Amino acid sequence: MKNKKKVLKNKKILLGVAGGVAAYKSVDLVRRLKDEGASVTVIMTDASKNFITPLSLEIASENRVCSGIFDDPMSHINLPREADIMLIAPATANIIGKFANGIADDLLSTCFLSFKGKVVIAPSMNWRMYDNPIFQENLRRLTAHGVIQAGPDRGTLACGEEGIGRMADVSEIIETIKSAFSKKDFFKKKIIVTAGPTREYLDPVRFLSNRSSGKMGYAVARACIRRGAEVILISGPSCLEQPHGLKSFFRVETAQEMKNAMFKHLHETDVVIMAAAPADFSPEKKEKTKINKTDKLLVNLRNTPDILSEIGKLKRRPLLVGFAAETGKRLDRAKEKLIQKNADIIVFNNVTAAGSGFDVDTNEITIIRKNKEVSLPLTTKDAAAEAILDAVSELLKRVKCII
Ligand code: CTP
Repeated sequence: MKNKKKVLKNKKILLGVAGGVAAYKSVDLVRRLKDEGASVTVIMTDASKNFITPLSLEIASENRVCSGIFDDPMSHINLPREADIMLIAPATANIIGKFANGIADDLLSTCFLSFKGKVVIAPSMNWRMYDNPIFQENLRRLTAHGVIQAGPDRGTLACGEEGIGRMADVSEIIETIKSAFSKKDFFKKKIIVTAGPTREYLDPVRFLSNRSSGKMGYAVARACIRRGAEVILISGPSCLEQPHGLKSFFRVETAQEMKNAMFKHLHETDVVIMAAAPADFSPEKKEKTKINKTDKLLVNLRNTPDILSEIGKLKRRPLLVGFAAETGKRLDRAKEKLIQKNADIIVFNNVTAAGSGFDVDTNEITIIRKNKEVSLPLTTKDAAAEAILDAVSELLKRVKCII
């Protein structure tokens, strides 16, 4: 997938690597940032070289690695001037202490002082250091000055103890960077997103379901969070990682459970985005024990609740976005769904087209509104989610639609 489809396309990231055990993760971090379309210049502190070599980061970043303050006397001005954002991962107690107190005695701390843009830090240290009131004061001071914090997480630390202090995982750090670049046009908007399939059980071990990985819905939820919304994600079975920064997360199995979770929160919602693929049929009867194998099994099915249509019928309802998963270029069917389900937007996607549909990170969509239709070329699900939110944002400005 070419860089032009990516959220961090052409962004210049100045990555500071300080001397913590999590420094080994910075190779993966650099690779993933580059995969997202960014270019990365690394500054290493002297201490960090005890954990990782400059060569590893030079290879990963395909860029020179900077370290000495006097290697190039103007680098503390030039490097920040060229960067769009500064990221420090891992950020040790020492570097955070320096930043918070204006100490500038190495390349990283001088660059921090001269940088004018947004700074993201990913603290990493032992829980005793993290809990220390002096460290906490430094951290508060930095965040009060607008420094954005990613993590740390709780878990097993390098010393073997359990506690807070593990560097946030790489995907959380990358989401924080994307969020720092995002417009906040959904600030304080309440959005419910559904994702994944549902399972309609015949017996305790067998079910009917739809093919759906949940990737599109999870990408929509992440984009909503980046753009400042309070997001409730209602997910059918999916092995995807729960997005960071959700207001609430509900795991459901059946379409009825999805509907129940939806209607419990609908009254406080501005927008509903139904990216889930609920199964349309459910066995009339769920057996309590496993059905014995027979030559022929006849099952009576009934329709599951059509959640989108039920919301569409409400007198006062949130702004409503549905998806139309079609096998073929059936834009006509997608347009029918817009009318029949009384949605404001239907996102058409041909699940049988190359690069679209299930289990892939790309999609080719058409965003259909009553008087407007926009087709996007094959793009990442992240970028498709952004385009869907652009359409929602445009409509929200015009429609007053809170229940
Ligand atoms: N949907 C829903 N409840 C269902 C089935 C679908 O809310 N029980 C929603 C989906 O989340 C999607 C939209 O309706 O946003 C269209 O789903 P789709 O599967 O494309 O269409 P169906 O209505 O199921 O019709 P068909 O299967 O005949 O295409």
